[in-house]
Amino acid sequence: MNILAISGSPRPARNTAGLMKLIVESAKAHVSNVDAMWCNLNDMTYSGCQSCLACKEPTARSCVRKDALAFVLDVMVASQAWVIGTPVYMGHVSGQLKLLLDRMYGFIGPNWENRLPAGKRVVVAITQGAGEECHRDLAEELAELLGRRGLETRVIRACNMRVDVPVPEFSQAVKEEAAALGKWLAGAL
Ligand SMILES: Cc1cc2nc3c(=O)[nH]c(=O)nc-3n(C[C@H](O)[C@H](O)[C@H](O)COP(=O)(O)O)c2cc1C
Repeated sequence: MNILAISGSPRPARNTAGLMKLIVESAKAHVSNVDAMWCNLNDMTYSGCQSCLACKEPTARSCVRKDALAFVLDVMVASQAWVIGTPVYMGHVSGQLKLLLDRMYGFIGPNWENRLPAGKRVVVAITQGAGEECHRDLAEELAELLGRRGLETRVIRACNMRVDVPVPEFSQAVKEEAAALGKWLAGAL
């Protein structure tokens, strides 16, 4: 698995998925034979972290919970590049994505060591209804969170994205940024 695209939006063909697709397609255009797996969290049945702390056993490799997210977490370990997408919901990532972020606690070992192999690149794709000035802190927070897991992380935000239009309308600047990030992501493959 080369690229893993994880969407936290419940809508498979709207703003968030549209932005993620621009990035994935650009990455594919820059490397041959890219294998990409798309994962819509909203279609899956899984729970949040149960704070069982079994992931802190030295023999554990990640979260031990065996629901649909177990496979996604395995693919996160195996793939070199991730695109993680989310709409902003009430100032944060979607609930669908937050549960996954919590389950990534298992990527931290008992002595706070990173269990994820080094060298992965991640693009976080955020779409929001509000303008540029809103939710900057969310973008920074996600970059820092993933960076602490040893992931080389870039964030793109598509702002002023209306929730009530059937086809996403991205500005030229966002399209160009998404294309550049796809190229950057391809550098990890
Ligand atoms: C429940 C809900 C909460 C939202 N909260 C915010 C918000 O706090 N800030 C914001 O800028 N946009 C907010 N929006 C707008 C969406 O983030 C935005 O339209 C996004 O692009 C939708 O993505 P999608 O097309 O993938 O569903 C909200 C939309 C919904 C449905």
